[in-house]
Amino acid sequence: MSVDRDDEILGKAYDSQLMKRLLGYVKPYKKYVVFAIILNIVVAGLGPVRPFLTKIAIDDYIITSDYEGLFIIAAFLVGSLMMQAVIQYFLTYYTQLMGQKIIFDLRKKVFAHVQKLALKFFDKTPIGRTVTRVTNDIESLNELFSSGIVMVFSDLFIIFWIFVFMFFMTWDLSLVTLSVLPVLIYATFLFRRKVREAYRDERKHLARLNSYMQEHVSGMSIVQLFTKEREERKRYAGIGTDYRTAKINAVFYYAIFFPVVEILSSIAIGLIIWYGGGNVLQGTLTIGSVIAFLQYTEMFFRPIRDLSEKYNIMQTAMASSERLFNLLDDKTIVENPESPKQLGTVTGKIDFKNVWFAYNKGEYVLKDVSFSINPGETIAIVGATGAGKTSINNLITRFYDIDKGSICIDGKDIKSIRKETLREHISIVLQDIFLFSGTIKSNINLDYEGITDAQVIDAAKTVGAHDFISNLPNGYDEEVKEKGATLSVGQKQLISFARALAFNPQILILDEATSSIDTETENIIQKAIEKLLMGRTSIVIAHRLSTIQNADKILVMHKGELREMGSHQELLSQKGIYYKLYQLQYKDQEVLKTI
Ligand code: CTP
Ligand code: MG
Repeated sequence: MSVDRDDEILGKAYDSQLMKRLLGYVKPYKKYVVFAIILNIVVAGLGPVRPFLTKIAIDDYIITSDYEGLFIIAAFLVGSLMMQAVIQYFLTYYTQLMGQKIIFDLRKKVFAHVQKLALKFFDKTPIGRTVTRVTNDIESLNELFSSGIVMVFSDLFIIFWIFVFMFFMTWDLSLVTLSVLPVLIYATFLFRRKVREAYRDERKHLARLNSYMQEHVSGMSIVQLFTKEREERKRYAGIGTDYRTAKINAVFYYAIFFPVVEILSSIAIGLIIWYGGGNVLQGTLTIGSVIAFLQYTEMFFRPIRDLSEKYNIMQTAMASSERLFNLLDDKTIVENPESPKQLGTVTGKIDFKNVWFAYNKGEYVLKDVSFSINPGETIAIVGATGAGKTSINNLITRFYDIDKGSICIDGKDIKSIRKETLREHISIVLQDIFLFSGTIKSNINLDYEGITDAQVIDAAKTVGAHDFISNLPNGYDEEVKEKGATLSVGQKQLISFARALAFNPQILILDEATSSIDTETENIIQKAIEKLLMGRTSIVIAHRLSTIQNADKILVMHKGELREMGSHQELLSQKGIYYKLYQLQYKDQEVLKTI
């Protein structure tokens, strides 16, 4: 099983390079950040003021029975709480707003980038991984943007103000209270290191669990067909156990860290009562100060307790952003020329000149292929499986770029034309038909506004799909489920023909599906293909003898080389590869037809 290396990125809790890049996305929302930081400073200031007010209330008014003064202080306390509540509202709302806006920007950017990526990228990247980038990974940045960045400021401010107030009241009790600090810092340091390791383990096993699940849900029919359920369950349980163990390990460190912080905070409280209480007895300290100190201690330990959570946010965010940036930095892109040539009206002449091509460096799947197709001609490509037929198609549309040689359309090298312009003139019916979730109509016109309903119906009629579509309960508006699962293979094929026709391209490429269908549909499809090819330059990767015989020229591919070229009769009389193929594969079709 392949393990997604990207998903095992551990990520530092803080990486200045990544952070710098992330902050780049915050830039357009600087206003929000400044606003949030100001509010935070105010909130951070309001909190530590309260214990100090309590101290004044006790020492100056309660002990002296000053009701009026006490009332004023109480009013101040309530006022500060109310103010904090109002500010908190704005803070939460605006930081979340900012976070969501940034995330939306990022999501758009990642999607746009994914669209730009060449097919080479999708050959080597599982779909699930790309989806995870656009969903989970981006989402986990939300917390960083919305609360993380701003929270760090507020925590630092709170701690700073607590120190100021404490030392202002009494420095020796402050020192005694803070004597637990070194232990706390050390404990936090240890915790961080351990959790980091546990976290890596956890992520690794989670990635495995996910990819296993994904693969086996997509391949459910195979699992059920070969009754591998029990076995697969066992394997899944095995991977699940690893994940559980890793998770429990991580929880273990949290389970230790929290009580340790709790104990330290209790020790601090004990120290205050013991040392501060003693000072009160000696008359060197007021009782109000001791109570204020108790409150400060509580306030001081809270951000530290939250630290573990924030640490998690940071860690996840850093790992996610690293993966996201890896995707955004992926340069597997078919580049457009800097000063593209215009294509104008295309007559449809295609020239392959000494084309060499490899998916993987050095492993050529097309070797020195040369041929020409005149405008309006139909050529058929035949050859054994893996001979390189589909590859030829992939090159004409620039799904991939060739390594050597040239491909020209109307005498212009396709590399000198914008790929969008190029593709406007080409329709392609792929070997594996793909339907989007939507309606039959939207699958034919792909929601292009330029294609009218009448044109959709016209295209469907021409390829012979109109009859079955009209018989559907909702006709052209019938819902198509993901990948067209509710349609038969033949129906899907007809829809994909109608799609190609609706776009009325000058050049048509057809990768015939090998799967055989019933004779009636077969006849419809055969007629559809004839109509499809009429009046345009066409390349058909053919499995049907009829298509091959009707072609102007047949190219015979063998192990990436163009070995024979000519008409059906010419090639048969050569008694070469085509002759053999004919004997083995196509002759039967002829025999079948005569039955
Ligand atoms: N190949 C590859 N990477 C891809 C697609 C294909 O390495 N993304 C390889 C295949 O393993 C094969 C060769 O390229 O060895 C030619 O593949 P293709 O042109 O798809 O073969 P076809 O002639 O179209 O075969 P079929 O009739 O089975 O469709
Ligand atoms: Mg193929």
